[in-house]
Amino acid sequence: MPTINLVTEIPGPQSKALVARREAATPRGAAKLTPVAIVKAQGAAITDADGNTFLDFAGGIGTLAVGHCPPSVVNAVQAQAADLLHLCAIVGTYEPYVRVSEMMNEIVPGDFPKKTILLNSGAEANETAIKIARSYTNRPAVIVFEGAYHGRTNLTLAMTSKYGLFKKGFGPYAPEIYRLPYPNVYRRPAGLTEDEFIDDCISRLENAFIAQVDPSAVAAIVLETVLGEGGFIPTPPRFLQRVRDLCTQHGIVYIADEVQCGMGRTGKMFAVEHYGIVPDVIVTAKSIAAGMPLAAVTGRADIMDAPHPGGLGGTYSGNPVACVAAIEAIEMIRQPAFLARANAMGQRLNQHLLDLHAEVPLVGDVRGLGPMQLMELVKDRTTKVPAPDETLMLTQEAFKRGLIAIRAGLYSNCIRFLPPLNITDEQVDEGMAVIAEGLRVVESKRQAALA
Ligand SMILES: Cc1ncc(COP(=O)(O)O)c(C=O)c1O
Repeated sequence: MPTINLVTEIPGPQSKALVARREAATPRGAAKLTPVAIVKAQGAAITDADGNTFLDFAGGIGTLAVGHCPPSVVNAVQAQAADLLHLCAIVGTYEPYVRVSEMMNEIVPGDFPKKTILLNSGAEANETAIKIARSYTNRPAVIVFEGAYHGRTNLTLAMTSKYGLFKKGFGPYAPEIYRLPYPNVYRRPAGLTEDEFIDDCISRLENAFIAQVDPSAVAAIVLETVLGEGGFIPTPPRFLQRVRDLCTQHGIVYIADEVQCGMGRTGKMFAVEHYGIVPDVIVTAKSIAAGMPLAAVTGRADIMDAPHPGGLGGTYSGNPVACVAAIEAIEMIRQPAFLARANAMGQRLNQHLLDLHAEVPLVGDVRGLGPMQLMELVKDRTTKVPAPDETLMLTQEAFKRGLIAIRAGLYSNCIRFLPPLNITDEQVDEGMAVIAEGLRVVESKRQAALA
């Protein structure tokens, strides 16, 4: 039986009314990607205020590896809410906080003692990781990369790329952030092979230690193992290895931002596990707690213990209700059968995308790591001129047909696929049939305009 079930025009009257209230009551800066008001969700299905059911391939922007409202999470949240809604981990200790930290110390790669601090969001966790690295090294500078997304607080905005959408009008930004080219091999300069381009990015990174900042001033290199917002680009292994080696050589803390690509999204618990590379610190959030606000910084115990008592934390950080959700979500994700299913789903999704690449000229690239898959739309496969308008149109065509899909990429010309990792084959096929139909509509409109 199909999941999508549309019973009114889209958006329906109730959605329209609530979205109008939202627009009147809230600032436009907090944008919305679809004009729909959701009242209920289960698995990969979300139901709106008019009774329409959509397939959700946005998954809370990668927050719902375990799907919407898994019963074990819901039960744990309900039970915890009745006992202890909040305490503040600065005030006292409660078991769920300790248990989540122990679990993270167990599952994060690295054959050394680890410690974990819990926060509320990916941005806050990245900020905390930088504080820890600075405290440990007694150094100010942080190296980040083009295409990176690390959050929207002032420090993480300084670390985030894509100026127009995220940063315009909000400066000045925190100092001592150095941004270097990232090896996006799809968009490498003409004439360079992939290997030559990766070599070039590596030598620019090395050269930065002469041209931009002395390594003895660098606290941390922060790198998304697979770029998320930047377009699902798996970091080439040689580049990642060079980052690891340079950090080791110069006593720099290597921080892997796995807020989007961690917690099972690539078919392993952490994306770095595909590489066999061990960061000093891993930052996680999003799918860690099935949608409850929680984030974690996990790393070498000696690094994590650098800041003085009282230097870290916050009022809500590691809230008990969020923690019990995390315990259940982590337990689900770490089951080999769950990850095996995620990988099988990823292969199915990838095959659909490759079929579309073979059929539709607009699809310039298909890429990702495991089930973390994306397609990039271009006006021309040779020039690779981005097609952001067509990409937006595709999300709208998909939405009208009952599929929620969202964009990504520096040029907003990619569709990223972030369904629950335990979505069924039938749901993958159903969603991808909608994408295919929408893509054909967009392509034929484009061809007609070109004719
Ligand atoms: C890689 C990465 N880091 C950090 C963040 C920020 O997380 P949050 O929105 O929870 O602050 C995101 C959010 O999309 C992300 O994808």
